[in-house]
Amino acid sequence: MSDAVLMQLLQVLADGRYHSGEELGERLSMSRTAVWKQLKKLPELGVQLQSGRGQGYCLPGGLELFERARIIQEAAPWCGDLLLELVVDSTNARLMARPSALGSGAVCIAEQQTAGRGRRGRTWISPFGQNLYLSMLWQFEGGASALEGLSLAVGVCVAEVLESFGLADVQLKWPNDVLANDRKLAGVLLEMTGDPSGTCQVVVGVGVNWRMPEEAAQSIDQPWVDIARLAEEQGAQPVSRNALAGRLIASLSSMLEDFVAGGFSGWRQRWLHRAAFIGQLVELSTANRRCAGMLLGVDDAGALLLDVDGEPQRFYGGEVSLRSAS
Ligand code: BTN
Repeated sequence: MSDAVLMQLLQVLADGRYHSGEELGERLSMSRTAVWKQLKKLPELGVQLQSGRGQGYCLPGGLELFERARIIQEAAPWCGDLLLELVVDSTNARLMARPSALGSGAVCIAEQQTAGRGRRGRTWISPFGQNLYLSMLWQFEGGASALEGLSLAVGVCVAEVLESFGLADVQLKWPNDVLANDRKLAGVLLEMTGDPSGTCQVVVGVGVNWRMPEEAAQSIDQPWVDIARLAEEQGAQPVSRNALAGRLIASLSSMLEDFVAGGFSGWRQRWLHRAAFIGQLVELSTANRRCAGMLLGVDDAGALLLDVDGEPQRFYGGEVSLRSAS
């Protein structure tokens, strides 16, 4: 199936109103049978299609599809390549596949991921047209050590963009989860390719829950929230998905330029300002160890600082969770 035809159909239906088969045929310059064949593909994408006798077809609640011009306008002064896809396996994988053909700042955004990658080999649930799946490529000199703390700085960008829309109480959980009232709102996954001790490319992948459908959410194995629900809870204005994508691109590209020059130390205070669990008793689980301590913060390289039995200790990897009071 051609993405272009399907995209045209979605663009007509995106307003959430009913459109007759005849009107759709006229607008897409195709027969009603051909329209019907395209319409049948929507449920396969997980898009809920409603049909009413004598009324035609509609997408209940409508869709805000990504629009290149709106994203670019909102992302100014960023001006990299924008790969805007309907369906990909993973936006990170898409950029990782050909990093040298794309310059620093190239972005891939998709309406749906069929194999969205989460941290620690998990799957990132990525239904069609409802969330943000965005990856940005950047070239670094100085190998992996130049990237220390980068994932935390990405979390700061995500939090600040959400705050720019009037959302409050956005917190960062080490190393790079974005939470609101202990529910996951966004996640960050960095992947690296190239020379680990020289010129390397990093792909910064960000997934933000925007309007997670209940059905897709059943596969999420932790407390979660999306922007639509959070805005409603907080009495904030609804957030445009295109504006969100554009502002995130602007924020990430400006952070990455700064990070290349100065590393994480200039971002540390901004991270700490939003840090979850500071001063609380937490448990850190790594592949071969569990360790409890009071969360003190992070150092200039983004390593976690825990007070373990009265001694400050540094940790470079693992999962943090709050220790229950028992
Ligand atoms: C996490 O597990 O918290 C990290 C999730 C990262 C998901 C994003 S969605 C865009 C990009 N493409 C991927 O395949 N993963 C990241």
